[in-house]
Amino acid sequence: MRLLFVTSEIFPLIKTGGLADVSGALPAALTATGVDVQILLPAYRGILAQCDSPQHLGSLQAFHDIRCDIYQTTLPGTRIPLLLIDDLALYDRYGGPYNHPIYGDWQDNPLRFGLLSKVAAMLSVPNMLQSWLPDIVHCNDWQTGLAPYYLKQMGSMAKSVFSIHNLAFQGNFHADWRYRLTLNEEDFQPAGYEFYGHLSFMKAGLYYADALSTVSPTYAREIQTEHFGFGFQGLLQHRAHDLTGILNGIDTDVWNPSTDPYLPNNYDEKTLASKKNVKKALQVELGLQPLASAPLLGVVSRLTHQKGLDMLVEIAHELLATGCQLAVLGSGEPALEQEYLALMQQYPGQVSVTIGYNEPLSHRIMAGTDIFVMPSRFEPCGLNQMYGLRYGTIPVVANTGGLADSVQGGVVPDKGLLPTNMTGLVMPENNPWTLLVTLRQALQIYANSRQWKQLQKQAMQRDVSWKTSAQHYLEMYQKLLNV
Ligand code: ADP
Ligand code: GLC
Repeated sequence: MRLLFVTSEIFPLIKTGGLADVSGALPAALTATGVDVQILLPAYRGILAQCDSPQHLGSLQAFHDIRCDIYQTTLPGTRIPLLLIDDLALYDRYGGPYNHPIYGDWQDNPLRFGLLSKVAAMLSVPNMLQSWLPDIVHCNDWQTGLAPYYLKQMGSMAKSVFSIHNLAFQGNFHADWRYRLTLNEEDFQPAGYEFYGHLSFMKAGLYYADALSTVSPTYAREIQTEHFGFGFQGLLQHRAHDLTGILNGIDTDVWNPSTDPYLPNNYDEKTLASKKNVKKALQVELGLQPLASAPLLGVVSRLTHQKGLDMLVEIAHELLATGCQLAVLGSGEPALEQEYLALMQQYPGQVSVTIGYNEPLSHRIMAGTDIFVMPSRFEPCGLNQMYGLRYGTIPVVANTGGLADSVQGGVVPDKGLLPTNMTGLVMPENNPWTLLVTLRQALQIYANSRQWKQLQKQAMQRDVSWKTSAQHYLEMYQKLLNV
């Protein structure tokens, strides 16, 4: 089975969020099941230089005024072929993959990701570049949403899978872009790529893909409701039989407390006692009081409405009155960043806030904190709670999406042992007061060292690898190909 995996970000080359982690790990897990995978990614600035001897395969006339070069290399650290689309005018820019450092989204994003989608389709019909043709094209999020459309437009034999990582980002643009992107006029309608008068990349993916998936079973159900569907609930209900929820795994090599190179010392389930050295070093690094007994809460996140971290600010005074500490790493909405910075000023030595994106520090927070907080309003999957499980850092999560599917809560007895399947704490409702109550419960367990050790061990034993999930993807592809 040959599979073209199309993505707009991939770890370790370019990352803004969980999509990069998934793209960096799932292809390898699929390769291990015997799938012949190639990956397609835009060559953003600096990417070609980070890769091993890229080979020029040739060029493609994607649109009448756009001819791009295709390079082949391998994804660093793997032997998986990686195809890069090189177009200096569209991708060689200072800034993020989606936005200018100051002025927000790149104004030509429809063209930039229309090109990614178009090239995916051009590589899936007989072409001059390679004889390898995919049986399946696996597309991810709105950036690849036009690929299923172009595959049909070009008469490709390949089947398409469209994976939703976050329905909130839809790629809706002015309808006039359809001319530039050579979309057929008759498909600009509700039974097509039109969405409330706009050209919608997400809509195209959801409408034209042969199969749909999303990153957790609970989110697959939630997005069929008005509250979580962002306007697509009707279409998703209509396509419910083609929609599968498959929980993400994590890269257990990159996220491994017993080998993690970013930690001052490593530990595993058997040497859990030395996790406290990582905590102490983290407290010193972040200017927190080096109190071994103070429970340390961690946050690593985009600071946006989705993540619900405004609720944590709201209850911060009551929470901090218990004597716990808080370490936050994140960036996002300026107002929320300011609120967290103000909290740090108010509680020197007790609260640390780092605004920005910092991969090494994210590992140290994951390992050095006791409790990881994720009160998301919605969470398609979420990866940090799974990193928390693996690092013995107990997740406290909202009861939504992949959080509900990956963290098992339970009734906490005053004395004695916890339920043997419990791995964290799940908020029964999503509001600040429930968050406070749930965090207090976590602190209560923390105070009982027998219960806490039990919980940490159970969390660390939870299988969060890609193995089972890759198998589910394989079954989905097989069903699509009738094999
Ligand atoms: P989302 O993709 O919605 O942001 P996920 O939990 O799926 O949420 O993935 C987020 C990924 O980005 C995780 O790997 C997390 O560690 C990382 N991350 C988020 N914010 C930061 C940050 N400020 N610094 C370093 N890594 C971050
Ligand atoms: C999105 C979601 C997140 C998910 C990630 C990877 O960024 O917000 O919940 O884990 O994609 O699938």
